[in-house]
Amino acid sequence: MELPFDGAISSFFKDEAPDAVRKAIDKAKKGKTLDDGYPYDQWMDKDDYEDRLGKLQVELVKLQADVKASGRRIVLVFEGRDAAGKGGTIKRIREYLNPRVANVVALPKPSDRESSQWYFQRYIDRLPAGGEMTIFDRSWYNRGVVEKVFDFCTDDQREHFFSQVPGFESMLVDEGIHMVKFWLNVGRAEQLRRFLDRERDPLKQWKLSWIDVEGLKRWDAYTDAIRETLSRTHTPLAPWTVIRSDDKYRVRLAAIQTVLSGIDYKGKDFKAIGAIDGNICGGPEIWNG
Ligand code: ADP
Ligand code: AMP
Ligand code: MLT
Repeated sequence: MELPFDGAISSFFKDEAPDAVRKAIDKAKKGKTLDDGYPYDQWMDKDDYEDRLGKLQVELVKLQADVKASGRRIVLVFEGRDAAGKGGTIKRIREYLNPRVANVVALPKPSDRESSQWYFQRYIDRLPAGGEMTIFDRSWYNRGVVEKVFDFCTDDQREHFFSQVPGFESMLVDEGIHMVKFWLNVGRAEQLRRFLDRERDPLKQWKLSWIDVEGLKRWDAYTDAIRETLSRTHTPLAPWTVIRSDDKYRVRLAAIQTVLSGIDYKGKDFKAIGAIDGNICGGPEIWNG
């Protein structure tokens, strides 16, 4: 079968990937996580994961009922490098929820018309009405990271963006919108392993874009742009929750636990929510490039 992008991901793996990354992927055995810095060296057990996920999803259904009844509004922002696990985490959050309540916003690149508007305008258009939970799969933070790395905006536009973010987000919070901002942090070897998997798998190839392929060479530029974005937008009113996402199971549980822990709802079962794993989930200090 022909590989998309002429096998650009496997060529990068063979010819260009740093030795340490290539070695980590080569060595990876079934049941082992890839990156030295990740606090666990084994993937979480699948049965244990499914058991805990099921209990958390029951809590999400209770939250949904309460949000509908009270007319509250929730915004979840999911950010992170390509293949960080945003899509998979969002999918588990929504699995048993009403799509009218829990809706996903994954905007494409701005049209010419949108590019001429205030940068936040098209996102404001999609904010929740009462009784809705809107999940942003990528967000206004494109201007902090991918638009910087690929020169899709000028430095002046980016500075202007940074000067407006705290005010913009504090208006949302002041308006009574409950907002949680997630930064998923994937390691370099695990990201490349996921790209290789996507390249081979006909069901996952659609997730690859030229940005992913080109982005492989720009790991360090991403690192710089992310560091700056986290430090300039981690505010008391709208703080980041950073979760290390090399283990897909652990990141999904921690994200859902964070949502549930941060909000009151009828019938809340603290035991079912459980303690959030501080080894992988916290503030910007968790982020390690
Ligand atoms: P994703 O990883 O979300 O599936 P991509 O990796 O292809 O998508 O793109 C990453 C982000 O960069 C997307 O949010 C996309 O809208 C944005 N993007 C792509 N091209 C441009 C552009 N020319 N100007 C601004 N943003 C862009
Ligand atoms: P298994 O489900 O144990 O047969 O694992 C199959 C492969 O999926 C493993 O070799 C890993 O590469 C990967 N894998 C398993 N569990 C996880 C996980 N929790 N997160 C990310 N990748 C995983
Ligand atoms: C995912 O794994 O779903 C990613 O975070 C989305 C992407 O590849 O950009």
